[in-house]
Amino acid sequence: MQSLAKDVHIVSVLNPTMRVFDVEMHTEYGTSYNSYVVLGAEKCAIIDANHATFAEDWLARVEAALDNRKPDYLVLNHTEPDHSGSVAACLERFPDITLICSSAAAINIKSITNLPELAPQVVKNRNSIDLGGLTLQFIAAPFLHWPDTMFTWLPERSIAFTCDFLGAHYCEPRLFDKGIVYHRDYSTAFKEYYDAIMAPFAPWVQKGLDKLEPLQADIVATSHGPVLTRDGELQACIDWYRQWSAPCERAVKKISLFYCSAYGNTRKLAECITDGISGALPSTQATAYDLVGADMVQMGAELNSSDAILIGSPTINRDALPMIWKLLAHIDAVNIVKRPVALFGSYGWSGEALPSLAERFAALKAAVYEPQFKVQFVPSDADLKAAREFGAEFARNLG
Ligand code: FEO
Repeated sequence: MQSLAKDVHIVSVLNPTMRVFDVEMHTEYGTSYNSYVVLGAEKCAIIDANHATFAEDWLARVEAALDNRKPDYLVLNHTEPDHSGSVAACLERFPDITLICSSAAAINIKSITNLPELAPQVVKNRNSIDLGGLTLQFIAAPFLHWPDTMFTWLPERSIAFTCDFLGAHYCEPRLFDKGIVYHRDYSTAFKEYYDAIMAPFAPWVQKGLDKLEPLQADIVATSHGPVLTRDGELQACIDWYRQWSAPCERAVKKISLFYCSAYGNTRKLAECITDGISGALPSTQATAYDLVGADMVQMGAELNSSDAILIGSPTINRDALPMIWKLLAHIDAVNIVKRPVALFGSYGWSGEALPSLAERFAALKAAVYEPQFKVQFVPSDADLKAAREFGAEFARNLG
């Protein structure tokens, strides 16, 4: 058993072979589900639970760390099922344990365990629990990355338990940053994790750092990947989060067009619309991307970092093409709100692609631009001219 410090033990479960997390997140380096046991002189606490798949393995580690003592508290810093899936099993094993969590997490955990009668002890920012010589202090850290999230601070050992915050889907046998062998892989995993999990919540990342940094923690114990230490990777990881989550001040507006084209007709529209945008707003960075053969993760990143978006699709089977929907699956649903989106495309008979996409973007609360620009079959010279004007008008509306 590895320890973080005196009376603070690691009871993580390693999953080095995991290659897909949450159904769609590619994880080339596996992951770990980190959890910790804190042994006070009078009371014991478990920090974060585990994935349901690993409940038995995790509970065996917890029991070994407890060394015949009973846990008094299970602290849930966050209730996503990779950390809460084994809570029901934990309650069965330790029926007298008290769950400690935020008010948002208290609602979630009843549905996750299917135990509506559950009554967790709800803690607020700066509430604390005395374990006897060791104190758990709770720091509200919402939207990192769910509304329920909080940090747990153990001042006597200078350890901050931050759950997903500063984590990474990365797994090496040694659980400390100083034991990392493949540093480049860890850096890649750390950035991918930030992009997938934290980037949509950049303003809250800044707030989370504002709460974490004054603690001057020697150790940050996350729920995935290596434990971060002051003389290891901790400061570098904090600096990366600061940099990546800083408000983006772009000198020029970025307008991106994403399209696919069966016979080149929607492509022609995309090219003319791009010309129209550039003509109306010369200082704008207007770029058209053909989605055929494109890396969708990269396209999603382009989309999410654009100030305005245009989507072009033909209509096939009374709908937009599957690769358009694939792109939309990468949309950052938090930050698409109010973002201008225009739609265009060539169609043969009925042209349902554009209204279908409009409905989706409206559901995402984007600012869907009207009218949509559609052309039946092959665009004429007049259609291409109108496409340029459509692009120019859309750009002028951005101000
Ligand atoms: Fe690792 Fe948001 O769960």
